[in-house]
Amino acid sequence: MCNLRQTTCVLSEHRGCWLAGLHGRQSSVPTFSARKLVPEIPQANPMRLSCFPATARETPLFSASVSRAESYPMRPSRRDQSAIHQPVLAHELRELLALEPGLCVVDATVGAGGHSRQILEQIRPGGLLIGIDRDPMMLQFAGKELGAPTKDTILVHSSYVALPDILAEQQIAGVDRVLADLGLSSDQLADESRGFSFHAEGPLDLRFDVSTGETAAQLLQGASADELCRIFREYGEEPFSERIAEAIVTSRRRTPVQTARQLADLVTEAVPRRRGAAKHPATLVFQALRIAVNNELQQVSQLANVLLPQAVVSGGRAAIITFHSLEDRIVKRAFRDKSVWQPVNAKPVTASSVERRQNPRSRSAKLRVAVRA
Ligand SMILES: C[S@@+](CC[C@H](N)C(=O)[O-])C[C@H]1O[C@@H](n2cnc3c(N)ncnc32)[C@H](O)[C@@H]1O
Repeated sequence: MCNLRQTTCVLSEHRGCWLAGLHGRQSSVPTFSARKLVPEIPQANPMRLSCFPATARETPLFSASVSRAESYPMRPSRRDQSAIHQPVLAHELRELLALEPGLCVVDATVGAGGHSRQILEQIRPGGLLIGIDRDPMMLQFAGKELGAPTKDTILVHSSYVALPDILAEQQIAGVDRVLADLGLSSDQLADESRGFSFHAEGPLDLRFDVSTGETAAQLLQGASADELCRIFREYGEEPFSERIAEAIVTSRRRTPVQTARQLADLVTEAVPRRRGAAKHPATLVFQALRIAVNNELQQVSQLANVLLPQAVVSGGRAAIITFHSLEDRIVKRAFRDKSVWQPVNAKPVTASSVERRQNPRSRSAKLRVAVRA
């Protein structure tokens, strides 16, 4: 930690200098090249392969975010082939991100690296990709997909809310592009031990980062009926919030709700049958719990309103893909600030009918892209 603070202090001089030049528009440097500020290549630490760049020193660069890297319960390192995540809106992103060789790009939710692979193809040679994810399992998959670590690919186990520290540790004052593809990966959905799927018999966990915080099962066991009702209403917009909260409180007196399937069955029994409904009756409850457990809306708001304006250089672009209206509303409002952003698309970009057919996950995806003023 001490190491991190010291380094950050030293770097703030660089940051000030570069930021004054770029955001103050006094510089004649048209495009920021992060490569200039990236240190030379030491040996990668194999224990931390997925968390450190090929440029990592033995001293952990990201001590604040990956200090417990070795103690994670390691998830399956082989992907379930039937559930491999298909990156959404990849074709549209290719155009709207306007990538070119040499750019410095942050993929704030790298997942299994689907979008990042495409980004790397476009920013090579000379570019730099920083991929961030809260889930160590996804970083393993991304490492395989991207052949990372390499000179131009850095993978970091962290939430994107640590973006300022991550960039400072790499001595990067500003980046050319940031992509955030929010939500859940199909790979996580397929992992029975996480509880994301309604039918999973494994524990009802729902955390992206299994090394920290309260699981959904713990939340359901400890929260009051009022608190549960608020979570379902605010984060799920679930019309039967009160009824479901009461059913959970009654049921947990006999047996704690421990698995995804238990919760899905309980909700299905508690709500009236919605004839012809395309969604599982527990969809909104699972969404609400996942948002609560991972503090998702606060993090998206922090990203869109504070971190992106600081991190993206003037003329750079930010792209955010959301999967429900609560997140989209936050992004839409943030990008509306004309002193900070010029929206590239007035309306959010949605998936083509072909993509919707091929990848049902894309049906609710909305992409907003803006240029930093
Ligand atoms: C939809 S997936 C990304 C898929 C990726 N674009 C791809 O093409 O493979 C979303 C990812 O974001 C991660 N995630 C969610 N919240 C995060 C946060 N606050 N910081 C970093 N990663 C996060 C999840 O663990 C998940 O792997």
